[in-house]
Amino acid sequence: MITHVPPMGWNTWNTFAGEVDEQLVLSSADILAESGLKDAGYEYVVIDDCWALKERDKNGKLVPNPEKFPHGMKYVADYIHAKGLKFGMYSCCGTMTCAEFPASFDREYTDARTFAEWDVDFLKYDYCFKPSSVEGKLLFRRMGLALANSGRDILFSGCSGGLDATHEWIGSTGANMWRSTPDIMDTWESIKNLIIRQYDILPFGGQGCFNDMDMLVVGMNGRGHVGLKGCTADEYRVHFAAWCLLGSPLMIGCDIRNMDAEAKAILTNPALIAIDRDARCAHPYIIRQSDNDEYPLIVRHLADGDIAFGFFNLSDSAANLWIPLADLGISFTQGKSAEGKDVYTGKPLALKNETLFATVPPHGCEVYRLKIKDIK
Ligand code: GAL
Repeated sequence: MITHVPPMGWNTWNTFAGEVDEQLVLSSADILAESGLKDAGYEYVVIDDCWALKERDKNGKLVPNPEKFPHGMKYVADYIHAKGLKFGMYSCCGTMTCAEFPASFDREYTDARTFAEWDVDFLKYDYCFKPSSVEGKLLFRRMGLALANSGRDILFSGCSGGLDATHEWIGSTGANMWRSTPDIMDTWESIKNLIIRQYDILPFGGQGCFNDMDMLVVGMNGRGHVGLKGCTADEYRVHFAAWCLLGSPLMIGCDIRNMDAEAKAILTNPALIAIDRDARCAHPYIIRQSDNDEYPLIVRHLADGDIAFGFFNLSDSAANLWIPLADLGISFTQGKSAEGKDVYTGKPLALKNETLFATVPPHGCEVYRLKIKDIK
């Protein structure tokens, strides 16, 4: 099995888009390895779109752009592997990638073998320029089979943006994760939209093939390709906590060479990463307080019996949120209660009449790892 928990890493797209080159990738690998990000779990260094020449070689193989990658991709792989990290690349099931570089339609086996020759460990596989006469699930299945027969363990990261009811067929393609959302932008509106879009598809993710809510924008602060407005630190905290509670892969998208301390603290929060990568990989579920999409209470039952729980306030005003512990299966009549501290602030949970409550600021959250205890 290639992975049994959601993968973590860094991807070039959110900040650099077409401006990718060897120097960027190797220097980012250095930072990943040396700054504590690798220790926190981030291991894949992924080159997204725009790495190739527009033409294949005479044998029909993809060619890295020599101006961007003068030593080729095996060199990049060796460098990344020497740092104890893993190497990811990008292609697409259509006739061109989204940025109009050569893609793998009808070349799946050739390309999978090429990636294996370059010692690639991860393939992000997009959905642009897909011929309308062929079903996406067949094209993804073809690449899944090609990777499985490439002679190398390559994590298959499907990126169809949830199109064509991806959730119904992705599990049959060999994909290890699947993009359940359109592209993220570095704005509060985008983060909120992507969280709400997960509500109805949560049962389709989990161990083996994780719902990928897209790369993180924490730390972008409005800079780079999807930078736009940027978000506040509280909004980035909500973003990271939601991705972790919902069990998404965690792929950093900011320029990690210039990351501020606040972003780093969010991205390396050990309590949240432990929830994201919990060995049980249980499906999270959402309780909408007052039937309102803007107040998702997110619950995830963990391998050791603890319960990860988050109050989220996606609205523009402060909200009083609550949940009786009995609704989480922690029953007062059975002599049970709970304790826990907020994963960001360390604040102990507030209980009144065995009901957990919080006043949560707009665009805010409180997240606890609840430990069940006996009432004396
Ligand atoms: C999009 C994809 C992005 C990025 C881009 C590259 O479709 O969702 O994450 O990979 O293509 O062109």
